[in-house]
Amino acid sequence: MTLKPGDGIGPAVTSAALRVLEAAGAAIEWDRQVAGLTALESDRTPLPEPTLESIRRTRVALKGPLTTPVGTGFRSVNVALRKEFDLYANVRPVRTLIPTARYQDIDLVLIRENTEGLYVGIEHYIGMGDDPKAAAESVMIVTRYGAERIVRYAFEYAIRNQRRKVTLAHKANILKFTQGLFLDVGREIAAEYRGRLEFADKIIDNTAMQLVLDPYQFDVIVTENMFGDILSDEMAGLIGGLGVAPGGNIGRDAAIFEPVHGSAPDIADQNVANPIATILAACMLLDHIGQGDAGARIRRALEDTVRAGETLTRDLGGTATTYAFAEAVIQRLKP
Ligand code: NAI
Ligand code: MG
Repeated sequence: MTLKPGDGIGPAVTSAALRVLEAAGAAIEWDRQVAGLTALESDRTPLPEPTLESIRRTRVALKGPLTTPVGTGFRSVNVALRKEFDLYANVRPVRTLIPTARYQDIDLVLIRENTEGLYVGIEHYIGMGDDPKAAAESVMIVTRYGAERIVRYAFEYAIRNQRRKVTLAHKANILKFTQGLFLDVGREIAAEYRGRLEFADKIIDNTAMQLVLDPYQFDVIVTENMFGDILSDEMAGLIGGLGVAPGGNIGRDAAIFEPVHGSAPDIADQNVANPIATILAACMLLDHIGQGDAGARIRRALEDTVRAGETLTRDLGGTATTYAFAEAVIQRLKP
């Protein structure tokens, strides 16, 4: 498997996660590679060829967060990786872990289209008179191919994981062509699963409100790229925030697992970052490569540690360091 520790708090949270994996007896040989700011300093490019080469070979990676400069500088390495390996499905499970979060017993999965929509990056300014930026235009791309494969992925995921319902969130009432196509395709595919899975479609703004009012009415949510970006942060908020939210970027030929949070430069080098999101991302990786037993054991030890409440990082109200938390999980892994 390829390992990219990442920038900022990345090296600390990934090495904490690795210790936990090792203690759980996961059989993984890591190929360490660099990306992001760290790679820019060592290799003069944020995404060196050996890193790409490694993922092509291993097809599975665990990645820490990468710093993306705002405005100027290189484009997002995350977006480049999704494009390079056609990682079309962004899977973000949202499950209650912290007893003190806003809601209890949340168990949702967001499946976000990861390659199309407004994020294809087709945009430009339109000049008028002496104003070169009088207007700006971005193009939203939805293809039947792209909509079909993400909706099908959501339904297959639901079947594989014994879920009960798929909700498709959209804005087909206003964006009749792009979102209309997404919804049409969604309904066609839903028909194939009738009797096996419940299906609902919901307008995106209402979905956002309903998630706060009554998240329990949802199960698996599938949506396009930008709506998914926004909903996934909202959903992480339901269970206590970024420190506990993992994600997977999945394609036909490769998969990259990572915490949802960024490199947190404000707390880098303080040894206070919460490694839970990265540990859970590593558990998703274990599920993906057929070592789900080790993943399940880690999740149980993690939940026990959090419920015991003695060893928690600062973001969860504790005083433990990144490694102290990992060590507490490892203690609970021992038979
Ligand atoms: P961020 O997620 O790094 O930080 C947001 C806030 O959450 C900060 O106050 C941070 O201290 C806190 N936080 C994040 N992870 C935490 C953890 N594990 N434990 C405790 N507290 C945690 O988002 P921000 O500040 O907007 O972005 C920082 C950099 O990360 C930027 O360069 C951004 O581009 C990059 N980024 C990279 C991502 C990736 O590689 N997948 C995702 C999001 C942002
Ligand atoms: Mg986002």
